[in-house]
Amino acid sequence: MSFILPRFTPYSRFHLLTNLTVILLLGASQLTAMDIEQKIDELVSKMTLEEKIGQTAMRGTSSRETGVSEELKQAVRNGEIGTFLNVMTPANVDALQRIAVEESRLGIPLIFARDVIHGFRTIFPIPLGIASTWNPEVAERGARISAEEAVNYGIRWTFAPMMDIARDPRWGRIAESFGEDPLLNSDMSVAMIKGFQTDDLSNPTAIAACAKHFVGYGAAEGGRDYNTALIPERELRDIYLKPFKASVDAGVATIMTAFNEIDGIPASGHKYLLKDVLRGKWGFDGFVVSDWASITEMIDHGYAADEKEAAYKSMRAGLNVEMMTEAYDNHLAELIEEGKIDEAWLDEMVKQVLRVKFRLGLFENPERLKGTESEILHPDHLAAAKEAAVQSVVMLKNDNYLLPLAKNKTVAVIGPLANAPHEQQGTWVFDSRKENSVTPITALREMLGEEQVNFAEGMSYSRSKSREGFSDAIEAAKNSDIVLFFGGEEAILSGEAHSRANLDLPGLQNELIDELANLGKPMVLVVQSGRPNTIHGILPKFDSVLYAFHLGTMAGPALADLLFGVESPSGRLPVSWPYAVGQIPVHYNHKNTGRPANDDDFVHMDDIPIHAWQSSLGNDSHYLDLGFRPAFPFGYGLTYSEFEYSDLELSSDTLKMGTSIRVSATIANDGDREATEVVQLYIRDLFGSATRPVRELKDYTRLTLEAGESQTVTFELHTDQLTFHNENMQEVTEPGDFHVWISPNAAEGLMGEFEVVE
Ligand code: BGC
Repeated sequence: MSFILPRFTPYSRFHLLTNLTVILLLGASQLTAMDIEQKIDELVSKMTLEEKIGQTAMRGTSSRETGVSEELKQAVRNGEIGTFLNVMTPANVDALQRIAVEESRLGIPLIFARDVIHGFRTIFPIPLGIASTWNPEVAERGARISAEEAVNYGIRWTFAPMMDIARDPRWGRIAESFGEDPLLNSDMSVAMIKGFQTDDLSNPTAIAACAKHFVGYGAAEGGRDYNTALIPERELRDIYLKPFKASVDAGVATIMTAFNEIDGIPASGHKYLLKDVLRGKWGFDGFVVSDWASITEMIDHGYAADEKEAAYKSMRAGLNVEMMTEAYDNHLAELIEEGKIDEAWLDEMVKQVLRVKFRLGLFENPERLKGTESEILHPDHLAAAKEAAVQSVVMLKNDNYLLPLAKNKTVAVIGPLANAPHEQQGTWVFDSRKENSVTPITALREMLGEEQVNFAEGMSYSRSKSREGFSDAIEAAKNSDIVLFFGGEEAILSGEAHSRANLDLPGLQNELIDELANLGKPMVLVVQSGRPNTIHGILPKFDSVLYAFHLGTMAGPALADLLFGVESPSGRLPVSWPYAVGQIPVHYNHKNTGRPANDDDFVHMDDIPIHAWQSSLGNDSHYLDLGFRPAFPFGYGLTYSEFEYSDLELSSDTLKMGTSIRVSATIANDGDREATEVVQLYIRDLFGSATRPVRELKDYTRLTLEAGESQTVTFELHTDQLTFHNENMQEVTEPGDFHVWISPNAAEGLMGEFEVVE
């Protein structure tokens, strides 16, 4: 059997049905784009300067507070606030919206925003885990469910998805990212935007998405949060900007600027990127919001001497809405009076804000959708969260097929993440409740019965330095056939402002593992973490390893099903995995260098003779102690079956500019059970007017095959997928020779060749 893959997955039937039903029931906006533009013009012509400035102001509280002051209410009445964040009491949302609509002079509705990052009450895997599914439909469904839960609280805008390319696991926010690849990032981002926004933002269950952080935040030097990003222009365009462009093309409603500077210019004042690229070249017509205080932080960056200059520089760049600080509020009127900012420019910026409010249908339906609590954590939501968790887990090792386990075995359940309902949710979960988490120990007891499970966590949290629980854990292991160690990091060790320099499992986890390994029992490691940890040193102690980024509400049932073979692992790494921190940044799409590393020439430092003559001849680009390869390549992951790749075929060995070729291979499931393979298409442009990466992902598909089944997978590859920024910074496909691979990961595969011709 053979099929040709379209590059983009269409809307799933589930969402079409949901949207249609909601629109019929609740009545979406009847306004056309032209009506909206006319209404915006009319409205702006009636606004005072103060009211216009009001639309640039976002106020709110920190994520934990619940109150809203009388002062804020009065400001809404005066038309001095356009948007809010973190108003989490529905009664406050209703009160503020009523004041805005009924008591302010022009009745302009507010938008209420919240960080709904990977779930609202039903928590899905962290975005890095979602990326590990290599399944945009999972991302879309998760975002749809999150929106359906969040709108009950009046939230019509989320600060997600985060699409910062992340090559550095020290950076705590890698948890919130989709990893290192621009294509995977773009696909996951677009899918989430569709899930949040649906096809029609005025659908009352739709929430506006926010593409963040524009741009380069993931390149924070040394992985230290908020640090300077040093990104060469070509890489900025070919890698970092790609997901943002895809998001704008997909109709994302808003964009958030980043905290960092890019080559000397803070992102929140970056006129070229915000005005020329985002608005000019890409035609973005929604609005841009700063990050929390990122306008006034330009003073700390040393880019603005005071609040007034910061306001001027962000305004000049076209940043519409200021989150939390008040530089616009305090200085825009003055800047206009002094002629530094043209009021017509402010009008333009206000129109962009109002456009999103109209598109959200807020002028017609400003009221919060009053659903019932029972719709939150609906069984369908939990089932979707479990499915996402199952698909996101990556099996890194499975010696002698220890996994899947037979259900008649006794297991010792040990480790700080075995029963950690709060931790398994991961970072950025303001609205969930840990009581709703189903932990691994709960799920395993349910699956196997109490008597087959010997539980002794050994350590009560991941950073613990106490050996107090060790002896119980060892006793539990002695009484069991198999040891399951649930390790990893607590949720708070990743996320914003939580970077680490040492990426080993924290606390005494490695020590406990050593002691357990001395018993000589079969051992399985299950890691739940917000980042790739350096686990190479402990790998030999385990027969099997499942790497689960924080999996969310349904972590337990998902892991139990995977461990006992109800499901086969199908996640694949969205990042290249380091052996050691000293190797970072490590990413598959690196350049070749003039002295590319290869296995034949590698000489380990221990093999260099004492007093060896100083010479670089014959050496290449590698580390003396660990070579040049990652511990696991991008795209890697095992299943409970074996897949064989054969018969690579190209429909032609020349590819004419503006056309496509078909690249196909046969994939066979040689194992004895059904399993899913993620088949990946890579290319290499051998010679360019600027050098090209050694591999670039161009397409992929998840393929489920029964035992013994084989299928031909065919990818269509168009010259538009081969563009890059050439020596003159123009985006082009250049004629010349290419390699192409159909592969199970970025380091292997069947290779073919073709030539692009004019
Ligand atoms: C983060 C953003 C987030 C915002 C609002 C900032 O600290 O960088 O990603 O959306 O806070 O909570």
